[in-house]
Parts: sequence; structure tokens; C-alpha cells
Amino acid sequence: MRTIDWVDGAVELIDQTRLPDECVTLRITTVDELVDAIRRLAVRGAPALGVAGALGVVLSGGDPDAVARLRAARPTAVNLAWGVDQAAAWLPEGRAAVLEAALRIRDEDIAACLAMGERGADLLTSGALASKAPTSGAFASEASTSGAFASDLPAVDLPDLLAPAGRGLRIMTICNTGGLAAVERGTALGVAQTLHERGLLAEVLALETRPLLQGARLTAWELARMGAPHRLVADGAGPYLLARGGVDAVLVGADRIAANGDTANKIGTYALALGAARAGVPFLVVAPETTIDVATPTGAGIEIEDRGAEEIVTLRGTRLAPEGTDAVNPAFDVTPHDLITAIVTDKRVIRP
Ligand code: MRU
Repeated sequence: MRTIDWVDGAVELIDQTRLPDECVTLRITTVDELVDAIRRLAVRGAPALGVAGALGVVLSGGDPDAVARLRAARPTAVNLAWGVDQAAAWLPEGRAAVLEAALRIRDEDIAACLAMGERGADLLTSGALASKAPTSGAFASEASTSGAFASDLPAVDLPDLLAPAGRGLRIMTICNTGGLAAVERGTALGVAQTLHERGLLAEVLALETRPLLQGARLTAWELARMGAPHRLVADGAGPYLLARGGVDAVLVGADRIAANGDTANKIGTYALALGAARAGVPFLVVAPETTIDVATPTGAGIEIEDRGAEEIVTLRGTRLAPEGTDAVNPAFDVTPHDLITAIVTDKRVIRP
């Protein structure tokens, strides 16, 4: 099942706001419907937004206002603007050419996710993964006394993560980076899926991912469907579980990677990266090349979407906080590149 596709002259996508209770397909024929679906996260995740943007240009009929509205529907994931721009470049050639370009982006995303899954799984199990943090638990106390973070420590080659453990890998992840965040398979969760298919996955620890619960609602749903062992973790428990030693690697996706490697991803990713560095656990960003934004030099230049107070003070329509409580709701954070062990793309592995 594809998360998003072009079917008989319209965009069809799984309405992710209805999961896990029901799996409903939306049929979208106008840009305004698509913008609404993007804003309310019926379709979400950077790669899926890239495909949505490209297919949306077909729906736009070339209307520049509609193309601009689509491009700006959400600001942080660079893939949306990228997908719109790629398809819009074909507008002078006519609708058939735009559709062909959009379908190419869809097909390339499917291939990229497969490639990332293979490359990420190879990296984690080949013994080739270099981490800036030592493998022993000693790192934690050294870091706390010296004040040094991973960036100040010498690079250490980690052995094959599987070998010393003699079992499958325990992966921690945040948000949803599976097939629902792309067309199929996804990025970071796609690596976990590949590990599972190879019989090398012990467990995925999925952060529930407040406020919209992409981890609890979507990642748990996907992992159950693929028959992969998994447990949910409250967001605040992530760094502590890393410190306690129950995780072999943290795998996250990305919404935008700046030219220096600073990475915007779902809010809570930065806390996991800090926890992983402190505990000496490899922290991998898995994202297609299309998520790298060389026009943005550092993470400081990435616009972070603010989604307003309502998502924080309520949970799926139920008020949590006293009437009148205000809230701050950045949907993403930026992880500095020095906390990232490696970035795995569909084409390469980028190390600090
Ligand atoms: O707000 P969302 O659900 O669109 O946020 C999605 C994420 O942060 C993902 O980690 C990111 O887009 C990468 S998806 C492969």
C-alpha cells in the first residue's frame, strides 16, 4: 500500500489523522484540499511531502498563486518546496510533462527509501560505523566531569554492533519515519524494517512523540503490521533509557539538513542526540539526498514551524490544561552536526 499516489487523475493518500483507528484513503482533486491535508498532517513526513508537492503542481493547472500556496503549506521540510519546484519547472512543457516529472519523483523516492534501508542496515552491522564516542560506559562520567561533549572526543571505531551483543539490534527512534512518511518503507524506520527482514532486529523503542503522537499512532501501527518487536516510550524517558544502556543505536529522520550537517527533525530529536552522545550510543540521521539543503549554511537558518497552543493544551480533542493556559509548540528542533555520528542517504554515508 502506498502512502500517496496519483490514481485516475487525482492524488490519493492515506489520511494519517485517522490512524490507527481506521485506514481511510482521501481522494484529492484541488490544491486547496491538498494544502489543507498537508496543514492538518493528513499527509506528513518530509519525503511524502516532496511527492505531495510535486503531484500538487499537476492539480494546480499552472496557477502561480496555487503553486505558491502549496509551496508554503509547511515551512520546515525542504522536500515540500523542492518537490513543488521540481515539478513546476516542467509547467512550460504542459500538464503531461509535469505529471511525468511528479511520477518520477514518486518512483525515485521509492528507490531512495529502499537504498537507505540497505545502506543503513549495512552500516550498523558491518563494523564500519565510526562514532565520536567511546563504546564503554566510562564516557558518561568522563563527559560529566570534563564538560566535554562528543565533539571534543577523539573518533573511535565501533566494532560490529551485532558481534559483542550476540543478538539483534535495539533501535530507538522518534516520530514516524516509516512508509507513512514517504511513499513506501520510509527512512530511519526503513532501516529498522531492513534489519527485521534480515533477522537482525531485536526491538524498536519508539518515542510516542507528543503532541501529535506520530510515534504512538503511526510508528507502532507500522511496526505491528510488519511484525517487528517494539515498545513505546514516553518522550521524556528517551535519554534516560539511553543512559541505562538498553539501546544499540538511535535512528532518526530529517526534515531539512543544512549544508554543515545541522539537522531539523521532530521536536525531541535534539534531546535524544544529547542523550546518545552522553551515553556513547551511535546517533544516525537517515534521509534522502533531497532533504539536504545546501542553500542553508547552518541550522540557524532553518525555519521551525510553530503549530500553536491548541495541540499542546489538548489531546485528540480532550482538554488537558486549565482553560486559558497558553503553550509553546515548536514542531521541530535542530540537532547540531557534532552530535550526529553519521548521515545515511540513498547515495552515501556522511560522517562529521
Ligand atoms: O510533523 P511531521 O509528522 O511531518 O514530522 C515528521 C518528521 O519529523 C520526520 O522525522 C521527518 O519528516 C522525516 S520522515 C522520513
